[in-house]
Amino acid sequence: MTGEVITLQVGQCGNQVGREFWSQLAKEHGIGQDGLSLQEDSPTAVREDHPVTFFKQNDSNRYTPRALLFDLEPSIINDIRNSFPGFFNERNVWVSQDNLGAGNTWSIGYDYGTENQDQFINMIDREIDATENFEAFQLIHSVAGGTGSGLGSNLLELLADSYHKKLVTTYSVFPSDESEVVVQPYNTMLTLRRLIEDSDASVVFDNNALSNITARILRDSNVSYAQSNQVISTVMSSITNSIRFPSYMFSSLPSIFSTIVPTPDMHFLVPSFTSFTTDFIPEAKNLKRSTGYDVILDLFDANNSMVTHSADDPVYIAIYSLLQGSVEQSDITRGILKTQKRVQFAPWSKSSLHVNIGKKSPYNKTSNSDYVSGLILSNTTAVNSLLKKTCNSFDTIFNRGAFLHKFQNGRVFENGWDEFKESREVVQSVIDEYTYAAQDSYIDDILLEENMLVGNDDGAMDINDDNII
Ligand code: GTP
Repeated sequence: MTGEVITLQVGQCGNQVGREFWSQLAKEHGIGQDGLSLQEDSPTAVREDHPVTFFKQNDSNRYTPRALLFDLEPSIINDIRNSFPGFFNERNVWVSQDNLGAGNTWSIGYDYGTENQDQFINMIDREIDATENFEAFQLIHSVAGGTGSGLGSNLLELLADSYHKKLVTTYSVFPSDESEVVVQPYNTMLTLRRLIEDSDASVVFDNNALSNITARILRDSNVSYAQSNQVISTVMSSITNSIRFPSYMFSSLPSIFSTIVPTPDMHFLVPSFTSFTTDFIPEAKNLKRSTGYDVILDLFDANNSMVTHSADDPVYIAIYSLLQGSVEQSDITRGILKTQKRVQFAPWSKSSLHVNIGKKSPYNKTSNSDYVSGLILSNTTAVNSLLKKTCNSFDTIFNRGAFLHKFQNGRVFENGWDEFKESREVVQSVIDEYTYAAQDSYIDDILLEENMLVGNDDGAMDINDDNII
């Protein structure tokens, strides 16, 4: 049986993205926004899909997300309660009594996490008790505010310390260039350290790339977070497609992530998606009928990348792809061969594009199964653009000692600013590793030991039958 996944959504961005994600999942599994199955099925009926990976099912056929919601102020969570009455488990919602938010300050969010750790462990344990074969956590947040970054960091440490055998993945949103808040580079740097040290894989997005993509899909430059969040939830639903509609390949999250994460530190994954049909974005306008071959090639167009990267051609370390719709095997083979000629792989990597064929939801009656859509999740040096941009913004303010007073009451800063310096060093070491990984000599020095792979042993090395060339 596919193992269950527990989702933690933290702060404004985390909860707003979470709302879109659960709305998408409910639609794909024929579940109403009150949690009741729209099907005539009984609790014992056999479904083709596997909603219980993400939902608990009770005797009255109600599905409840395996989700924990955290925030330091109630407004977003109240909105979610109003639009999904009775959908989430109220015992899984934690909102600080102070109602103050974290004021865009990482250390405030982080300290709330430390103070409430026992309560959080109880919430997580209770949710794990409701699983049969618990497998992974996924955390959704922004790295730039105070709650998603600070409380999110604290939760990542908690998961790594207390549940260290379970896969921890994150969906992490980076700020746009028009940074609204001056201390965002500090929050981002401190959070990046936890993403590196306490998660097994981080799927990263930046708000610039998301706005450009949504403006293109909607043919309207006036886009909102709601639409960017639909783009993120499309990625999340595609990554989890083959564990919710399982077949013999990639039917667990560890099997997907272990395929593209070669060493523990190089675990930043850049998503691309095309084309956005109305299955994913209700107002999508750029619908075009493409073959699997066209979609595979389009996925490598920089305009479809959810992380803006520099003009230098990125070097790919590993790529996972999920295609949905009417796809011919011959198109996939041609697409893989063409990709191998076009894109640059790290010299030591196997130049492999792992292609998985997903299933479309049987509950979406308006879906046109002929349309092909695809996702790639790339482990690539392109992520260095994001990491270096964060370091440059951080260095500019930190070297001048600017705005540090906002953090002075934080417990990790009681003895000075070492936490900032150490985080900067940790991030630099990952930038260096990605740079080094693009070179021939990398493999001479780094032995890819089996025990350096993420995930459990079963998932890590068992993948023989996928579409790899
Ligand atoms: P505090 O407000 O300090 O309590 O922290 P928070 O974590 O709740 O803040 P928030 O999640 O608003 O983080 C701020 C960053 O997230 C900024 O870069 C925003 O642009 C971005 N952001 C906020 N909400 C959303 C959202 O719904 N979607 C996307 N894509 N980005 C968001």
